[in-house]
Amino acid sequence: MDLNGKHIVLGLTGGVACYKAAYLCRLLVKEGAKVQVVMTEAAAQFITPVTMQALSNRTVYVSQWDAREPNNMAHINLSREADAILVAPASADFMAKLLHGRADDLLSLMCLARPLERVPLLLAPAMNREMWAHPATQRNMAQLRADGAHVLGVGEGDQACGETGDGRMLEPEELLEDLIAHFQPQVLSGRRVLISAGPTYEAIDPVRGITNLSSGKMGFAVARAARDAGADVTLVAGPIHLDGPRGVRRINVRSALEMDAACRAHADQADVFIATAAVADWRPASAQTQKIKKQGDGQVPSLAFVENPDILAAIAASERARSGALYCVGFAAESQDLEAQATAKRLRKGVPLLVGNIGPATFGQDDNALLLIDAQGTLEMPRNSKQALARMLVAEIAKRLPVSGAA
Ligand code: CTP
Repeated sequence: MDLNGKHIVLGLTGGVACYKAAYLCRLLVKEGAKVQVVMTEAAAQFITPVTMQALSNRTVYVSQWDAREPNNMAHINLSREADAILVAPASADFMAKLLHGRADDLLSLMCLARPLERVPLLLAPAMNREMWAHPATQRNMAQLRADGAHVLGVGEGDQACGETGDGRMLEPEELLEDLIAHFQPQVLSGRRVLISAGPTYEAIDPVRGITNLSSGKMGFAVARAARDAGADVTLVAGPIHLDGPRGVRRINVRSALEMDAACRAHADQADVFIATAAVADWRPASAQTQKIKKQGDGQVPSLAFVENPDILAAIAASERARSGALYCVGFAAESQDLEAQATAKRLRKGVPLLVGNIGPATFGQDDNALLLIDAQGTLEMPRNSKQALARMLVAEIAKRLPVSGAA
């Protein structure tokens, strides 16, 4: 659980998106967080404190005059124990108020009274598209950022008022992701990371092809972990039906040749290349432009194959990789003798770090076990969720990079 032991103050201000805050509260609790809900009077017009109390399993605070705290200083007590304050939804009015350091209700009082260096403030704006686009709102957000608040993005789409545009509050799952990201060490800050992920699809004819069972989950988890660690991430993805991760530049490809072209095009600007893709080793020598028809006489078509380029080996042999400006990481999906096979593969591919896993045991699953192999030896990462392993892997990669600016 990514928020285990974290103490989150979830602030609600007036807006229809309060209904989403109820679900967000559940998600935070499920992720292990202790959630203290604080609502403005306006928020209580949209959703009741009773609902939020039931979901958070804690008393909800609304008023700064609430006498339940022995010292009558809820704004101090609650903000001192918080690891973060997340205001979701944050209304235009509430942000305007924060900007001026006003503190005439419990939530704004807490935001002002929080220890700036220790308790981050995350704001999830939610408002009508005209209010969002208004220069006053944009100006306020710029100033709030300058004052140290983290203003999260907004969604685009249908709004409660019937209009369509920017300004919807992000979905609860997205806010949870952003909050978790906020707690990750920024070990790849300023680094550009290129990741290949998923299978490739090699066409035989317009309706058939050859592919493999890679789900792309590990590659997507690595992309998310790298993004959360502060990297600028480009993800070259084979045909997989996974969303996101948000904030990652995604390039969709189908065949190994397309993946090769996309990776080469971006490798020049990358500091790290992580090849998680299960690239098809071969492709049909010539893809038919028309569907191959069954003859009905028992004859089967004979297919000839040619080898696909080895994307990782070629990039690892490039000038930038050999000079240390581009750090290459390979993956090895083996079915047996993991350590021996992966050790040999690391040398064959010419990469400083190779990550081995047992392919059939991990394809499509949400968890995995990894074996890291570099020139120094091996490091075992026991079975865990792919996301947790991806975070550990990112930390290991970061340790091996040249000091920023030195390459
Ligand atoms: N790889 C690649 N291009 C290829 C084949 C593999 O970039 N044409 C990369 C994979 O993304 C992975 C690593 O090389 O990071 C090893 O992939 P794997 O399929 O395990 O190895 P192969 O070289 O195909 O060797 P084999 O299938 O014989 O085990």
